[in-house]
This record gives sequence, structure tokens and C-alpha cells, in this order.
Amino acid sequence: QQGPAFDSNAMTLTRFVLQEQRKFKEATGDLSQLLNCIQTAIKATASAVRKAGIAKLHGIAGDVNVQGEEVKKLDVLSNELFINMVKSSYTTCLMVSEENENVIEVETERQGKYIVCFDPLDGSSNIDCLVSIGSIFAIHRKRSTGEPTVQDALQPGNQLVAAGYALYGSATAVVLGLGNSVNGFTYDPAIGEFILTDPEMRVPEKGKIYSINEGYASDWDEGVRNYISAKKDPTKGKPYGARYVGSMVADVHRTIKYGGIFIYPATKAAPNGKLRLLYECNPMAYLMILAGGLASDGKKSILDIVPQKIHERSPIFLGSKADVEEALSYLK
Ligand code: AHM
Ligand code: MG
Repeated sequence: QQGPAFDSNAMTLTRFVLQEQRKFKEATGDLSQLLNCIQTAIKATASAVRKAGIAKLHGIAGDVNVQGEEVKKLDVLSNELFINMVKSSYTTCLMVSEENENVIEVETERQGKYIVCFDPLDGSSNIDCLVSIGSIFAIHRKRSTGEPTVQDALQPGNQLVAAGYALYGSATAVVLGLGNSVNGFTYDPAIGEFILTDPEMRVPEKGKIYSINEGYASDWDEGVRNYISAKKDPTKGKPYGARYVGSMVADVHRTIKYGGIFIYPATKAAPNGKLRLLYECNPMAYLMILAGGLASDGKKSILDIVPQKIHERSPIFLGSKADVEEALSYLK
């Protein structure tokens, strides 16, 4: 019995993006260029997350490198990577990063028509204990003429051109929403490429998992409390399993693959929840809806929220259509 043949015609992420671009006669190639640069930031972040080269960075003295400088924190490093790679694409005029208080304007010579919002390394509480973390990005087109301003970044999610995330989990994956489908790619370190492993992803109609930080239960409003109780009550159907990584990318990726619901609700302490609209809720809602699921803030689709501030937050209920609809039916 021979082993499997070497695939000499693999669909890489780069190839996929180029192929999508060719479907549009009027495409300039800018979006492909931008996605390739984001891919580079993801590869470099993945390498740092996997601690490649750690022996070189950590001297025997601890977290100090050979130059005697302190080793850069992973979230700082990934933010620099995203900013530099996006700027180097010559396709973007404005960026919003979770790590930067203000919008980042690209210098005039390197400006292009896109606006990129990102969380370069999400799941900060999981970084140091080596639990899955991720990067999230959302791409808008600049809709106004003239100099880019903050206003250009305040677009609702229903205007998104593309969005995606990278999951640094037991393997590294990229999930990209572009055109009218969501496609998943897994990193093959042997060739340094993301390979299409999950074409045209669809979230199951209904799942068996709920995902919420139950430690805050006393702070939830009644509707959320009643819904979660119902999911644990055998008289109301087979109880759901509970899973909560505490990294949005990991919790959302599981939800797309296995179905179920992910919730970060409003609490008494945080009336708008915790997660940020522009670079956490919107891109994930875009992907979930494109994959056949739903994403709501409790009242309306996440994608219909018109942002007022770049770092604003929103409660979120996202996942399988039947599960999100059921959760919403419990809310007033
Ligand atoms: P971060 O941007 O500081 O990493 O916070 C975002 C993360 C999400 O990945 C995750 O869904 C959420 O915070 C978990 O928050 P909590 O610990 O309150 O449950
Ligand atoms: Mg974050």
C-alpha cells in the first residue's frame, strides 16, 4: 500500500484570493494585495505565538534578548506586524486597532482605498498560559472623498468588503469571508502555506453547545438567565454542553464548526457587554451570517449597528440560526 500522493495542485490561501479576484473584471488586485499582506502578519504572529526562536530570544538571564532589550510582548509585536504589513500593501488609508486609542492614518504616499479594523491578538487572558488565541480583521472600502477621517471607519458591518480571523490553536487556521462564502484554511508548516481544508463553511442549523462566561450570571438580565437555565433543564430538552475558552476566536470557530451559541451579553457592570463592535463583533457576525448563522445584539442584527465610536462595544448572541432565534425569544 502506497502512502497518499503529494498534492501538486493545492489550493493555497494566496491562490484562492487570486482566483476570487479574477471573477471580477473590474478588480484592481488591491484587495488581493491587502489580504496577502494580512496573511504575512498572521504567519509571523503564528510563528511568535508558537515561540519559534525562543531559545535565541531568551538568554539565560530571562526575558531579555541578546541586545539586552526586554523581549517584546506578543500583543505588542502582533500589533506592529499588522500595522506594518497593512501599510506595506499600498491599499489602505486608515486602520483601527484594538491596541491603539486613535485611528492610524497611513502616510499619503502609501494610501489606498481600504480601511482595516483589527484585533491583532485577541484573548489576552489566554496568552501567557498557552491557550488558543487569535487575530481578527475587518475590511471596509472608503466611501467618502477627500482626506480619510475617523468618520470613514464608522461604517456598519453590512458594508464590509471582507473579514476573517486567524486561530492559533492546536493548528493554525485562517477563516476568510469574501464574496458570498466563508472558507477555512489550515496552515501546513511543511510548505509555509495555508491550504483550503474547509471550503464553503456552513454553521449547523442547531447545535448542542452554549458558550458564555457563567461567572457573571448574577449580573445578567432575566432573559439571558432564563435561556441558559433552559439549556440545562432536562425537562426542556436534552441539556446542552458548556464550552467557554475565553478567546472569542476559539469560541466562534468551534461554533461555526460544531454549531450552538456564543453569547457575551450586557451585564450590570458592562451595559454594552465587553466585545468591541468594529474588530470583534462585526467581523465575526459577518462570517457567521455568511455561513448561514445569525448574530444579534439582542434587538437587531449586529451588522445593522451604525457605530458612533471606534472602540464601542456591543452585546452579542451569535451562532446557529435555531439557537440564536431561541435565545432571542427569551429576551424582552
Ligand atoms: P481582549 O481583547 O482583552 O483579549 O478581550 C476579548 C476577549 C474575547 O476573546 C473573549 O470572548 C472575552 O474577552 C472573554 O471575556 P471574559 O473573560 O470576560 O469572559
Ligand atoms: Mg480583543
